[in-house]
Amino acid sequence: MKTPQFFQLHRLDDRVLADEASAGLMRPRAAVSPKFFYDPMGSRLFDAITELAEYYPTRTEASILGAHGPAIGAAALAMTGPAPVLVDLGAGNCAKAERLFGLVTPRRYVAVDISVEFLRHSLKCLQREHPAMDMVGVGQDFSSRLALPPEVVDGPALMFYPGSSIGNFTPAEALHLLRQAHHTAHGGALLIGVDHVKAAAVLEAAYDDDLGVTAAFNLNLLKHLNRLLGADFDVRQWRHVALYDARASRIEMHLEARQALTVRWPRHERPFAAGERLHTENSYKWTPEGFTALLHDAGFTGVQHWSDAQGAFGVYLAKA
Ligand code: AVI
Repeated sequence: MKTPQFFQLHRLDDRVLADEASAGLMRPRAAVSPKFFYDPMGSRLFDAITELAEYYPTRTEASILGAHGPAIGAAALAMTGPAPVLVDLGAGNCAKAERLFGLVTPRRYVAVDISVEFLRHSLKCLQREHPAMDMVGVGQDFSSRLALPPEVVDGPALMFYPGSSIGNFTPAEALHLLRQAHHTAHGGALLIGVDHVKAAAVLEAAYDDDLGVTAAFNLNLLKHLNRLLGADFDVRQWRHVALYDARASRIEMHLEARQALTVRWPRHERPFAAGERLHTENSYKWTPEGFTALLHDAGFTGVQHWSDAQGAFGVYLAKA
């Protein structure tokens, strides 16, 4: 049996993260990156979100890949050639990519996630199931820069970016990331999941569910900031808000102060007026035309996409 290889390409530095969060909180319109959702509790709450009736993206993407898997696999191989390197962006537990193994028989599986520690366990388990496959874990925050060691991607790659995580970037940031994915693919292809524009009521329910799981996911960010900064956010003083901005085609998530309050952390204090908001996430929704144009701008060609019957979600394949 082979053993996975690991690379940690950036330093996970709590001081740097704390300074970033602190600067965001002090802005006139307070805003922090959605990456602050994902402490261990936040990751569990996100898993729970994916099981909610209101949150359709995860299961819709899975059903598209289930229904059209063989066609998608064949079209991907026509672009990459046989036995591509499979690069999984934001791999997590690697479960989504594993479903592609039978469709594209990759000669190497490269799992990329923010923390290589998180990948160690997933890849160890996966290697037992696929003892002969070359497996590599790379710890990299590809939201700021995607650059993999050249020996890891040494030929045409199928870049896989599921879950509509591309929606958490502004269109300009998304373009930047897709250009880097295009470069990394070495003439291979990109397979990416994208949430589509739809009725505001459906979108707002997906981000403000009946059980309050998304509210807990949003509020948990304050507990994460308390630990990271030594801040004194009181979760009970804040309210979850999720609104669809049709002009910008994005869901915005905010935390709204229920009353006038002041948050303190070492060397800082930040007053919030009643009703003032802390912006925690954007989740952009794309039309098929808009996302196809974005892929072309990033250098991809031959864009194809598969969708569910309602057109709620798209799985896009494009040649690098
Ligand atoms: C990870 N990302 C694609 C999710 C989304 O839909 O934007 C994060 C999320 N936020 C609230 N619910 C889910």
